[in-house]
Amino acid sequence: MQLYDLRVIAYRWSTILVLLLSLLAADLEAQSDRPLVIAHRGASGYLPEHTLEGYALAIRMGADYIEPDLVLSKDGVLIARHDHYLSTSTDVASHAEFSGRKKTIGDREDWYTEDFTLAEIKTLRAIQAFRGRSKEHDGKYGIPTFQQVIDLVKRESAAGGRSVGLYPETKQPAYFKSKGFDVAGTLLDILRRNNLTSGVAPVYIQSFEADILKELAEKTDLPLVQLVTPDRNAAGKTDRTRSNISLEELSTYAEVVAPTKALLVAENGTATTFVERAHQLGLRVHVWTFRNDAYPTELFGSGEEEQIFFLKLGIDALFTDFPDTGVAVRNRLFPR
Ligand code: G3P
Ligand code: CA
Repeated sequence: MQLYDLRVIAYRWSTILVLLLSLLAADLEAQSDRPLVIAHRGASGYLPEHTLEGYALAIRMGADYIEPDLVLSKDGVLIARHDHYLSTSTDVASHAEFSGRKKTIGDREDWYTEDFTLAEIKTLRAIQAFRGRSKEHDGKYGIPTFQQVIDLVKRESAAGGRSVGLYPETKQPAYFKSKGFDVAGTLLDILRRNNLTSGVAPVYIQSFEADILKELAEKTDLPLVQLVTPDRNAAGKTDRTRSNISLEELSTYAEVVAPTKALLVAENGTATTFVERAHQLGLRVHVWTFRNDAYPTELFGSGEEEQIFFLKLGIDALFTDFPDTGVAVRNRLFPR
């Protein structure tokens, strides 16, 4: 067969795949009137976070979206890690060849992704990062690039007949920008190359940092998500009644506000007005993070009970380390 024929066949197949994924994306959009379940760092309650195996398990558990946190390697490749330091989620400390690569940033002496090429990152293995969880899978799985995560999601969506979405978070974008990386450009480039930049693609982009979201708002129609935490009062004490960025301010560039749970429930366990205020501004509310093995035991009898409470407040999505529980609770409260 001629090279030209092979190219035509490859082009036709890629067109069919894009069409199929668009149909599946429309299906996900149609379901979005019920709260979404976002697999936080994969099925991280069961397998080491940010591994292809953990994301695949989350998809098999029925998660609507998987959540890769993203940092950059020395050669500018987006990789899935929660932190740009490596010691807590990889076995870097046991690699003698990298012992001289340790450095101190602030009060943290560690190994940092921006000092490792992708080829070097690929020699590391993931370990359990969450205290108290099983370490039986330490050393089994590699560190995925964002492209590998996208490939997995496309493959699983096509094989499973349902659209699974991507919910990437840029970690420390201002820091990486200060080191000369174009974080927004790199992220949009890879999404563009994968036909994931249209407003109907099943993709949300999140950050704690407003600057990169404002930059992205100028460059993409994808929905943007501002992560928020409780503000602090003049005495430096946590104030659960206000977010660190006001809802009015963030509604000018983001479609979604993603608060930590504390903003929705007062210390005595009663609901705050957060959801109502956000909805009045046209914002959707995606709440983090629900964990079967870590929840406020003074307020709830189980992680499941906690999720029921929050879903009944009218939230639009929840991030959970245990997607099977999230999906079961959501489906029970919001049957199709
Ligand atoms: O992105 C939602 C939630 O993941 C924010 O917290 O620290 O787990 O990325 P973190
Ligand atoms: Ca995150």
